[in-house]
Amino acid sequence: MKKQFIGKINLIEKVSIDAYKMEIFSELEEAYPGQFISILCPTQTLRRPFSIAGFDKEKQLTTIIFKLKGDGTNYLKDLKIGDEINFLAPLGNTFEIENKNCLLVGAGIGIAPMLFLKKELDKKNIKNYLVSGFKSDDEVISGSDENVVGGSVLDNLEQIIKDKKIEIVYSCGPQIVLKKISEICLSCDIESQIAMEKVMACSIGVCRGCVIRLAKENEVVYASVCKDGPVFKGSEIVWE
Ligand SMILES: Cc1cc2nc3c(=O)[nH]c(=O)nc-3n(C[C@H](O)[C@H](O)[C@H](O)COP(=O)(O)OP(=O)(O)OC[C@H]3O[C@@H](n4cnc5c(N)ncnc54)[C@H](O)[C@@H]3O)c2cc1C
Ligand code: FES
Repeated sequence: MKKQFIGKINLIEKVSIDAYKMEIFSELEEAYPGQFISILCPTQTLRRPFSIAGFDKEKQLTTIIFKLKGDGTNYLKDLKIGDEINFLAPLGNTFEIENKNCLLVGAGIGIAPMLFLKKELDKKNIKNYLVSGFKSDDEVISGSDENVVGGSVLDNLEQIIKDKKIEIVYSCGPQIVLKKISEICLSCDIESQIAMEKVMACSIGVCRGCVIRLAKENEVVYASVCKDGPVFKGSEIVWE
């Protein structure tokens, strides 16, 4: 159940030229791949959402990986070990884990939820391949470097799907990349589960500021990314 937590920073570490990994110690009891947390940055009125990149129930640690954008993320990068952090969690739905041949595609900072998903699939012995792509070498996030493709994650996607006999693709990244990935999956006749990102105000389904359109049974319905998502079937998303 979603709750507000006051956690403590357990680790903050630079993982690329403009991204940081943060571990938060808290009383959060459960979290699943696809879900996110929403952090209060005292310099900002609105909380800032971040995908959960890892969760260790025993050590009570929640990991996020964030890229510097504006005031909120710059505030976070200056926090020190032991500092308190106020966040809502766990928010949103989860990737549906299926015992199929899985391909995980993380474009840029979209790698964050993929790292968590990969860990869960490995735990369940579900066959999976991770592909990540970054704009430049210095943006590559350490921890995902084993699987980095040179150039765009889209370049050889169709070939990888065919060669590895992929049955389902999970992905997160910029909308333009996600749209292309869902189109490729449709043309290959396989399922895709896409974690969407929208600028969020409330993060809890109240303001309707994060709606997207879904095509369901011949009608178009509105869904909020923060509450109904962030994970949607690629085949149902009506792309802008
Ligand atoms: C469900 C969800 C999960 C996310 N997971 C991560 C994550 O794991 N790691 C990460 O680095 N970021 C993630 N984001 C994006 C992150 O929330 C924003 O980068 C952050 O809120 C920026 O805050 P800021 O105050 O630093 O920048 P701001 O000053 O708020 O914004 C700086 C610039 O970034 C743009 N921006 C802000 N939020 C978003 C957004 N959601 N999508 C696209 N552009 C945006 C603004 O329009 C502006 O141009 C996620 C967003 C969502 C909705
Ligand atoms: S951010 Fe308010 S409804 Fe999603």
